[in-house]
Amino acid sequence: MKFNHRFQVSAPSNIAFVKYWGKFHGQLPCNPSLSMTLDSCRSHLKVDVKVDSTLDFQLDFSFEGESHPKFAQRIEKYLKLVASDLSWIYNCQLKLEASNTFPHSAGIASSASAFAALGSALEKIDSLMAKRDFDVKRASSFARVGSGSAARSIVGAYNIWGKLDSLISSDEYASPFANAHRNFNSVADVVCIVDSGAKLISSTDGHASMEGHPFAEARYQQAKNNLLTLITAMQNGNWKTFGAIIEQEALTLHALMMSATEPYILLRPQSLEIIGKIKKFRTETGIDIYFTIDAGPNIHIIYPKGENDEVIEQFIESELTKYCVGPKFIYDQIGTGVRFE
Ligand code: PMV
Repeated sequence: MKFNHRFQVSAPSNIAFVKYWGKFHGQLPCNPSLSMTLDSCRSHLKVDVKVDSTLDFQLDFSFEGESHPKFAQRIEKYLKLVASDLSWIYNCQLKLEASNTFPHSAGIASSASAFAALGSALEKIDSLMAKRDFDVKRASSFARVGSGSAARSIVGAYNIWGKLDSLISSDEYASPFANAHRNFNSVADVVCIVDSGAKLISSTDGHASMEGHPFAEARYQQAKNNLLTLITAMQNGNWKTFGAIIEQEALTLHALMMSATEPYILLRPQSLEIIGKIKKFRTETGIDIYFTIDAGPNIHIIYPKGENDEVIEQFIESELTKYCVGPKFIYDQIGTGVRFE
């Protein structure tokens, strides 16, 4: 069969509230996680695909207008992995022009948005060729093969990824968590950029450090318990319990790094200063403002958008600027997921 198509897709990054840390069989999670889909931190992809049984696989990849052999190699490896489900890949010429809306020196993990865009693009092509509707579960599952957390970036608002007996969730793909209280309808994520450099230890090595980790089993159990508590808090609109859980999750993630067989530290003195300031501001004002942290030194500030926006932004700019570098802050918020243009 012959098939030609050109289109554009963009996908956001996401921030995990219950963290995925540890994986098996390649890219299946050792514990369930829950995240918020972001809005303005996005990867854009221009896709030009030709499929014909006479063609051999060929990839032409560029990032922000330039060739990028390292990314191209990773994508080629990825496409060969998903080709077991998408056999047309063996007979396609694929041109991909990628870019990010957020500065790549911001130290923000872009693999979630990049693979969410690519996984959605592949599902789009497959659905058009098969003349069926776009399937978000398949898009999530293709994204997952590239980067586990990418599975949670297809659909907007909140997503759960990873099996838990008492929930209808899967290790293969993320499912939307649609029952959050209106108190969680509009949520800010302000990223404080403490270090814009590349990560010293990749998240692949971080996940691997959970194999044989002395606290692994206790951690997986804790994540399951935290997920259930978090879900209840979000259903009830309870920011205090929500905040306590997300901060414990963030610090546990970093404690796991520090207690691995080959321990390492990604937090910086500035990260700890910012955490201290957030707690102090919260105690003094009674405002719901909490932090979470990814596998890096940057601090994500999480709060309900609304009446306190101005005083919070003033606090961030006046108290935290001195700990930050480069663009210093990225103001993002809850978003709606993948978009085709
Ligand atoms: O998707 P990966 O392999 O980059 O792993 C992401 C891990 C964390 O960001 C630390 C946690 C998470 O759940 O997103």
